[in-house]
Amino acid sequence: MQIAVPDGALVVLVGVAGSGKTTFAARHFGPDEILSSDAFRGRIGSGESDQTVSRAAFAVLHRELAKRLGSGRTTVVDATNVTPWARQGLLRRAVAAGRPAIAIVLDLPEAICLGRNAQRAADRAVADVPHAAIRRQSADLGRSLRDPGRLVGEGFSEVVRLGTPDAVDAVEILRIPDGRIGTAGLGRAASPGSAGRDRGLLPLTERSNREEPDRTMTPRRPRSG
Ligand code: GTP
Ligand code: MG
Repeated sequence: MQIAVPDGALVVLVGVAGSGKTTFAARHFGPDEILSSDAFRGRIGSGESDQTVSRAAFAVLHRELAKRLGSGRTTVVDATNVTPWARQGLLRRAVAAGRPAIAIVLDLPEAICLGRNAQRAADRAVADVPHAAIRRQSADLGRSLRDPGRLVGEGFSEVVRLGTPDAVDAVEILRIPDGRIGTAGLGRAASPGSAGRDRGLLPLTERSNREEPDRTMTPRRPRSG
């Protein structure tokens, strides 16, 4: 599946711990384009999983995001973003900068995410993300996706939902030069929550890929993140 990303856009990754957000970001975007909540936790606190500094980490992430979008730099936010509250904060930055926002949802079966978390913890000798936390995130994500139009309604110009490891593997990011951004994407991001659907160069779509889960995952990047 091809995902068009206009230069200067906000790309919001959405997915529970272990869904592969950091791996996906590293595969498709440059390290200088990614703002990761874990990386900011690591800089501010005792490590990437130090939840006691989450608030400060997100404050810095948001400040950085506003600066980046304001100067027209494509920015990927690598955080779970499973709640409307988390996404709204990011969308506000896109609106303020007049930039389109694209949501890429890694909606993999919970069993896969739990398994990957356990494997990652074993591989890196780090603490496993508690299962209860992943279940909570899954429940939040499920609520966010229950109504298929919800994320578009929040203000994303494009929402891509990837339901299997194969669908994630098949993604190709198409960079669209800034000059080609139609008013559709901008209009959408500039008025989150508005009901109308513009059409233009950047179609407002909600796309989904949810074939049966394929459990024979391709270990393309088993250690990135
Ligand atoms: P958090 O940062 O905890 O929210 O997780 P995340 O969504 O960033 O997941 P991450 O990219 O760290 O991936 C979790 C584990 O799954 C890592 O050990 C990855 O190597 C592995 N993983 C990620 N994507 C894939 C994939 O496409 N295939 C396989 N086989 N493993 C993957
Ligand atoms: Mg990560």
